[in-house]
Amino acid sequence: MLEVEDVHTYYGLSHILFGVSLEAPAGEIVCILGRNGAGKSTTMKSIMGLTPPRRGTIRFKGAVITGLKPYRISRLGIGYVPDDRRVFADLTVGENLEISERARGGEHAWTLSRVYEFFPALGRIDGRRAGFLSGGEQQMLTIGRALMTNPELLLLDEPTEGLAPMVVHLLEEQIAALRDRGLTVLLAEQNQKVALRLSDRGYVIDNGSIRYHGSIQDLRENEDVRRKYLLV
Ligand SMILES: Nc1ncnc2c1ncn2[C@@H]1O[C@H](COP(=O)(O)OP(=O)(O)OP(=O)(O)O)[C@@H](O)[C@H]1O
Ligand SMILES: [Mg+2]
Repeated sequence: MLEVEDVHTYYGLSHILFGVSLEAPAGEIVCILGRNGAGKSTTMKSIMGLTPPRRGTIRFKGAVITGLKPYRISRLGIGYVPDDRRVFADLTVGENLEISERARGGEHAWTLSRVYEFFPALGRIDGRRAGFLSGGEQQMLTIGRALMTNPELLLLDEPTEGLAPMVVHLLEEQIAALRDRGLTVLLAEQNQKVALRLSDRGYVIDNGSIRYHGSIQDLRENEDVRRKYLLV
C-alpha cells in the first residue's frame, strides 16, 4: 500500500530525516515509535508532501507520489490527521465534517451519517461549535473529517496524546475497527503501550533514522531496543 524508500527531508538547512524507509502493507496498522523530536511527524509530513523530501521515493499503491502537492496526495486516498487536532472552531461538528466530504461514490463511502454511526459521541453533539469540544471529541472529529475523504490509508499523528485513559481506550478500539474495515493505518506514537497493543508491525525512529523494525511481537519482546530508543 505504502512504500517509503530512503527519504531525506530538510527544514531549510537542517537535515532532519536521514534515509527513512518503511512499508505499510494493506490492511495493517503500522506504528512509528520514537521519542520527542525523533522525526515521526516529519515522516508523515514527507509522505503527505507538506515537507517534500529532497531525496528518496514514496509510493502509494505502486505509483510514485513524491513531489505531488498535498491536495493531490490526499485525493489519491491518503487521509492525514496531524498532531494539532485543528478544527474549524466556529463551525459546528456537522459542518466540520461536511466541508471535508468528497463525493467518491461507492456504496461503502463514508457519509455524515456513517461517521456518526462510527463515532456515536459525535452524532450527539452534531450542532455544537467545534471550539467547545473536549480533547477526545476533537480527536474523533479530526479523524471523522479524514474519513469523509474516503481514504485507503490513514496517517494518524499521536492520536491519543494528552487524552484521559478512558478516552484513549475508546479511540484505540475505534482505530482497530477501522483496520478491520480494511483501512491501512500508519500511526505515529510516543506512547509505547498504545502502539504495542494496536499495531501489527512497528518501526522505531531516532534522530531521523529508522533504528529497528519488526513484527509487533518482536518489538514487544525486544526490551533492549525499547529501552535504548523509547524511554525518556
Ligand atoms: N518547522 C520546523 N523547522 C525546523 N525544525 C523543525 C521543524 N519541525 C520540526 N523540526 C525539528 O525536526 C526534528 C524532528 O521533529 P518531528 O516533529 O518530526 O519529531 P516527532 O518525532 O514528531 O516529535 P514529537 O513526539 O515531539 O511530536 C526535531 O529536531 C525538530 O526540532
Ligand atoms: Mg510529532
